[in-house]
Parts: sequence; C-alpha cells; structure tokens
Amino acid sequence: MVEAYRDPRRSVEERVEDLLKRMTLEEKIGQMCQYSAHAGLTDRIKDLVRRGLAGSLLNVVGVENVNEIQRIAVQETRLGIPLLLGLDVIHGYKTIFPIPLALASSWDPEVVEEAARIAAREAAAEGIRWTFAPMLDIARDPRWGRIAEGFGEDPYLAMVMAWAAVKGFQGPELSPDPERLAACAKHYVAYGACEGGRDYNTVDISERTLREVYMAPFKAAVAAGVATVMSAFNDLNGVPASANEFTLRRVLKGEWGFRGFVVSDWNAIGELVVHGVAADGSEAAKLAVTAGVDMDMEGDVYRRHLADLVRRGVVPESLIDEAVRRILTVKFKLGLFENPYADPERARRVVKSGEHLEAALRVARKCIVLAKNDGVLPLPKTLRRVAVIGPLADDRDAVLGCWRALGDPRDAVSVLEGIRRKLPGAEVLHARGCDVRSEDRSGFAEAVEAARRAEATVLVVGESADMSGEAASRAHLGLPGVQEELVRAVWEAVGGRAPVVAVVMSGRPLTITWVAEHLPAVVIAWHLGVRAGDAIADVLFGDYNPGGKLPVTWPRAVGQVPIYYNHKRTGRPPGPDRFTSKYIDEDWRPLFPFGHGLSYTRFEYSDLRVEPSAVEPGGAVTISFCLANVGDREGDEVAQLYVRDVVASVTRPVKELKGFKRVTLRPGERRRVVFTLPTQLLAFYGRDMRPVIEAGVYEVMVGSSSEDIRLRGSFEVTRTAVLEEGGRVWFTEARVE
Ligand code: GLC
Repeated sequence: MVEAYRDPRRSVEERVEDLLKRMTLEEKIGQMCQYSAHAGLTDRIKDLVRRGLAGSLLNVVGVENVNEIQRIAVQETRLGIPLLLGLDVIHGYKTIFPIPLALASSWDPEVVEEAARIAAREAAAEGIRWTFAPMLDIARDPRWGRIAEGFGEDPYLAMVMAWAAVKGFQGPELSPDPERLAACAKHYVAYGACEGGRDYNTVDISERTLREVYMAPFKAAVAAGVATVMSAFNDLNGVPASANEFTLRRVLKGEWGFRGFVVSDWNAIGELVVHGVAADGSEAAKLAVTAGVDMDMEGDVYRRHLADLVRRGVVPESLIDEAVRRILTVKFKLGLFENPYADPERARRVVKSGEHLEAALRVARKCIVLAKNDGVLPLPKTLRRVAVIGPLADDRDAVLGCWRALGDPRDAVSVLEGIRRKLPGAEVLHARGCDVRSEDRSGFAEAVEAARRAEATVLVVGESADMSGEAASRAHLGLPGVQEELVRAVWEAVGGRAPVVAVVMSGRPLTITWVAEHLPAVVIAWHLGVRAGDAIADVLFGDYNPGGKLPVTWPRAVGQVPIYYNHKRTGRPPGPDRFTSKYIDEDWRPLFPFGHGLSYTRFEYSDLRVEPSAVEPGGAVTISFCLANVGDREGDEVAQLYVRDVVASVTRPVKELKGFKRVTLRPGERRRVVFTLPTQLLAFYGRDMRPVIEAGVYEVMVGSSSEDIRLRGSFEVTRTAVLEEGGRVWFTEARVE
C-alpha cells in the first residue's frame, strides 16, 4: 500500500498533511534550508541532502548533476522528498534575452511573457524547476546597478510586466508542466529605494510610498499566482525586510493572502546579526521564522538553530509546520514527486533551438528605443564603407548583460557582426578607440582615421555587463572611462560631414547629455541579449522600425537623481521665477523622459472621448481616441494614458500611468484605441492610510510619452469610497478597434 503522499491521485493538501505527519522536526527544518552548489556537488552538499538537511539547492547546473543529486534525495533519504532546484533565470537560460529593463522598454507584456516562457522551457528541460525571477524592484535611482534587473520606475508598468512574467514562467497556474518553473517575486520589498543608490543600503520611506509604489508589482505577482517571494537584504524603516512581520505577515500573507512560500535572499537571515537586530544566529532564526520567512537561502541559520528554539519552546512547532506546508505544496504542485529528473535527450532538443534564437531577435528589436533622430536614420544599405567604432562594437559579452544564467558570449552576435551581415558588399571598418573603463586614449587616432574614411560612422559605447546588476552601484552616470572623449574626437573630425550615430548599451540610464546634444541620432540598446547585433543592425538600416519607449527617466546629470516622471507638484513647481523648485546650474528636466521613444514614421492622435464624464467609485471610464500613422512606413506606437488627481486629501503625482497599448499601424492606417479604466486604479492611501477613491476631478492625458501629451480631457468621480484592503489588483483594458 503506497503512502498517501506518494499517491498522485490524492489532492495536494492530503499529500502535504500525510507527509508532514510522518516527518521528524529535523526533516521538517531540512525542507526550510537551501544551499548553493556553485562550487559543484561537493561532499558537503551531498551529505546535507543525504541526511535530509537540505530541501532545496541553487546553482546546480547540468542534467547529469541534477539527476545525481535528485537520486540521492529520492533514493537515499528516509522519506524520499525530491529537491527543489533553483537558479537565477532572469532573462534567459541559455538563449539570453534582453535584460528586464530592456524588456520593459517594449511596453509589450506579450514580449515579457514569451521571454519568460522560453527561459522556463530551457531551464526546466535541464532539471531546474524554480527561478529567482521576476525581479520587481521599482527603481527611481539609476546609480543602483540593479535597476537593470527590474521593469523601471513606474508601478503600473511594472504591475503589467510582473503579471506577464509570472504567467510566462509558471503558465496559467503552477502545475507539473515540465516546461514551466515556479517563479519568485523579488526582492520583497523596496530594495530599489536604497539610499544613495548604494546597493544593500538603508531604505526609509513612508508607508504610503511603500504601498503605492514599491509593493504594487509584488501585489500583482501574488494576484497572478506567483509561487514564491524572496525577502530582501535591506532594512526597511528600521526593520530588515527578512525580519519584517508587517510586510511579510500583515501584508503579503495576510492582506494579499499569499499561499506560496518566502525564501530569504542569500544569507539575509544571518545578516540580521550584522544589521544589529539579532545578537546571534539563534535570535536571527527566531526573528525570521516569526516574521514569515519560510526558507533560509545559504545562511545555514535555520539548520543550526531552529530545532533548539522549538525544543526550548521559544518558537512554536506550528510555525515550522506552516513553512513546511508552504514549501511541500509547491513541490507537489510542480509534480516533483512524480518527475524529479531531467531528460538529456529532451534538453538537447529544446535548449538554444532555432525557434528560441528567432524569438530572441524578435524580442530584442521591440526593446530598442530610438531616443534621437535628426533624420540620419535609417542609414542606407547602399553604403560602401561604414566605420563601427567603440569598445562595445565587437563585444559579445556586454550584450548578454547581468544575470545571464548559462548564456555563452560565443553564441552572441555583436553590433559589428550584425552590421557586417547586413552589408555583405560593403567595407565595414572597425576600431575600438578605447576600452570601456580605462583612461587609455592611444586608440583614438585609429578610430578617427576609420571615421574619416567612412561614409557613415556608428559609435557603440556604454557599459560592460558587469557594470550593472548586483553590487554595481555607480556614483557617476556618464559614459565610463574616456568614451565620451572618443565620441567628441570622432564628432569633431567628421561630424556634419557624414552621419555619426551613437548606439548606447547599458544596464541603466546614463547622463549622455553631450552626446545627445551634439550627435544627430542616439539609439538606446540596453543589453539586448544573444541577438543584439542583428536587432541593432535591423534598426540602423531600416529593416525594423523601432517602437520601444523608456521605462525609466534618463537624467541630464547625476545631481538630479532621484528624478522620475510621477513626482509631486510641490507648492513651488519649477518655473521661470527664481523662487521655484529647480537648480541654478542644471535644467530641472530630464534628458529623456519616461515613456519617450521615437519612430521612423509619425503618429497623430485625435478625437478623444471620455465617457461617462461623471462616474461612481467602483465604475469604469472609457477613454478612446483615434491613432493614425501619417508617415510613409509601418511602425509601432505605444499610446500612453496618464491620469492626474487634481485635488485630493494628500498630495498626488502630477501624472500617473494608468494604461498603455503598443499598436502596429501601416502607413495611412487609422485605428481607434480604447482604454477602459477601472476607478479602483485611482485609489491611493488617504490621510488615515486606508485605500480610498476620492470624489473630484481627474485630468486625462493621452500621448506618446509622459512629456509628449497629445490629447487632454477630464472626468469626475461623484463621491468618495473607502476600499477594503485585499489582494485584488486591477488593470486597464486596452484594445484597438
Ligand atoms: C543574490 C541576489 C538575488 C539572487 C540570489 C541567488 O545575492 O540578491 O537576486 O536571486 O542571491 O543567486
């Protein structure tokens, strides 16, 4: 008679309860412990697994290693509980897609979902079943290198992308589907608000900002059914996120009803001692498990202290049981008990398939942002001699960006290669000109000479992959090293005589103010993944009309930071009067605003209709308008809907994104875009910190960016309504007629 927990015909709940009651305290705590196998399957790792002291591992790579360690867990432990194997599959597994900040630049949730689905398919084929993604940290500070990993500065855009990413990784719901992964919304919460943009630094923000801005994408991920959440390193308003009962139990597990499990970030529990809120590991374990952290990543704190804390009656065993139920539920739902192993034949078929590499190109194209174009782009394909200059021109590592999982630069296409493929009959000159970060100018002469000989010059500048991501904060946001001097040298030699275009690769906004003011064209290419070179060449030479928009503001100077579009009005908004909120030595406006992105064609907006003009709270407002392509080539426009609460009980942003739609239009084509805005999206936290939709007038703005507003209107909410706290999220339906 097979035990109930081994019987797939039983419900998940039955199997969890049957298994739980068979487990010793040590075996239960073992499920709450995760270790890293970044140094391989060492004797220590195998011993921990064999003794039932590790329920999960991260960084196990390769089908053989996966199957070896799962066999030990399943065949050599008393209860045979399979391991949950996790990896940072952030924007691809082996087929690497654009970094998440670039994916957000597509303003197309289907792009985000497809990238996540393909990443899941490849990782799951090699035995990984859990990814530590999507990263949902809102970031208003580009000094913080991890801005690269998230979806930018806006809560609504991030909510939409969070939902898409969770569905892409997990499928419609968590299931034994062998092509899907359990996802992990990280880093909960407000990690991106670290002071000074310095990674791991203190976060101190109001509860209103915490809830309205930083929690919003996590709430969407939970509503989308995300299986796990990762608690962050940072202290938040005095309480570290991995010991924070308010965020973990009151909000996440309480208000939002999160049923998955919380894993700490790497040794974040052990670091409670360093934060100074725990005297030792034992106190750290008590704080974390009480706060609601269910699994200890690489801290070894739960293994060393929890059993003793339970036996001394300091921590009730019920807390252990709750954590283990949550963890086992994910394992059963993933079908791990029935299928813990990877199939090497299937892995060979699936990973880096032609279909995946084609998808990587399609996605990369949609993420490119044309920031400036004085008409020199697209370049003609009849060019006979082109110079491709800069330290990133032929760099196949940079394009993979940070957190590239098992991505291999040898699979990547550089800009130089992409242009050579695009112009097989042309002479394509290449000169690095300088390094990414050194002060060596000895290559300038060669670069200038190449530009002089060419009919057009493409400068490829920016950051290497290791300059963004974790532990990569920057105090200066300019082009690193002497790259701007290189651009100036080339510009002074040939600018005005021949087209000179800048392609900027980075994991964050950069203060490329001089470049943007002098060169006739700037293409923002982020780190676009394995097909970067082909996608960029398609845009430069007109085989693809760029339609991406910025998900994050680009400052003129680092001194403006934090700078973001949905700022408050203040009592003295910036203006010509001296005594208003601005700088005496710099423009107060950004270099490129949130939502900005150009096209090779032109779009016109007309005939705005806002119905009804007065709406009850709980109702919806339909905002529609006509969008026309008045240029001579097909293109994508991301039409954006912003709303402003004109008078409220607390100060409100000058505008907030509340809807968007990427629309493809042929030349001369006109379509009606229709947004159905639920009034629940107007809610904010009132003076009493309860969610409220307030009566009053709301301004409607529709446009091509947060600054390029084309149509304006308004509507009224007839009365105020206080909402119940809960886990439900709302989105604006966007359709094209
Ligand atoms: C790192 C990162 C986190 C990642 C984890 C596992 O320190 O903060 O984003 O998922 O550890 O690699």
